[in-house]
Amino acid sequence: MTAPKLHSVAPEKKSRVLIVDDNPTNVELLFAHLKPHGYTLDKAFDGEAALKRIEENPPDLILLDLMMPKLSGYEVCQQVKSDPKTQFIPVIVITALKELHDKIKAIEMGADDFLMKPFNKVELITRVKSLLKLKELYDDVDRSETIIFTLAEMLEAKDVYTRGHSERVAKYSVLLARHIGLDEQDQEWIRRGALLHDVGKIGVRESILNKPEKLSQEELAHIRSHPARGCEICRTLNSLSPVLPIIRHHHERVDGLGYPDGIGDKEITIGPRIVSIADAYDAMTSNRPYRKGIPPADALKIFQKEKANGQWDPELVGQFIELIKSETGI
Ligand SMILES: [Fe+2]
Repeated sequence: MTAPKLHSVAPEKKSRVLIVDDNPTNVELLFAHLKPHGYTLDKAFDGEAALKRIEENPPDLILLDLMMPKLSGYEVCQQVKSDPKTQFIPVIVITALKELHDKIKAIEMGADDFLMKPFNKVELITRVKSLLKLKELYDDVDRSETIIFTLAEMLEAKDVYTRGHSERVAKYSVLLARHIGLDEQDQEWIRRGALLHDVGKIGVRESILNKPEKLSQEELAHIRSHPARGCEICRTLNSLSPVLPIIRHHHERVDGLGYPDGIGDKEITIGPRIVSIADAYDAMTSNRPYRKGIPPADALKIFQKEKANGQWDPELVGQFIELIKSETGI
């Protein structure tokens, strides 16, 4: 008997290429060159139409003319590269412009490669293939990240007491990061780190996670292994490396009495400092199996009282109190 083929249940995905040029002859020519390679081809004749197509049906690669009516190729490129949903779509600029400064401008707008008109067919296919390969790799990373984020979400969703915890911690963390003036990129890393901060609880026994009674030494050690476990899970993806300190150090204390590494004020970076405050605030104000949540005003009083006790960064706690007061009107 012949063994069934794996690819028979997972048909190969056809890459989508969007061709953007105001000259129909150029579009037809590119169609003719690319069609035999099995790509799904799409076209747009001006910048605005291109952005509309990209939003409706994101391509895997864009071949982009620069000089077009309505919206130039530069503007299209800039918009594609500044939107997190489309930033990894490779853009090849096709232009008759020979001037160096035009190339530099396109690079500044985020273009991945160039082809000069009249273009060489072999060169075109080679560049398209290699950038599509790169896009496939980005998509793989994206899928792997999605799996990890979904795992973290599923872990919380199982338990009525933890449902939505990481989402809320992420929300407070980003508010605090913005409040102290961190830039958008850092805010995004903090958001992702906060969403994943407890992902290591996947490896912690459920009977311990939900135990209302006091934990034994062994059980406490087991639950305290979650930051290191979480870090190991996310370490498998290079793309998540900026969030590893948040996951590993969200239970460290500035006096060095936290876990897992017992690092102190000098070594704890800003990400885990922020997330540990947001984590504590959400833990205090939410119901748990063993106690009811307290009102936000009471949580802020605890922060105020404990501000300098060595658990958190006192300066950041001060900022957090100010922030929550202004957000809630307490
Ligand atoms: Fe935790």
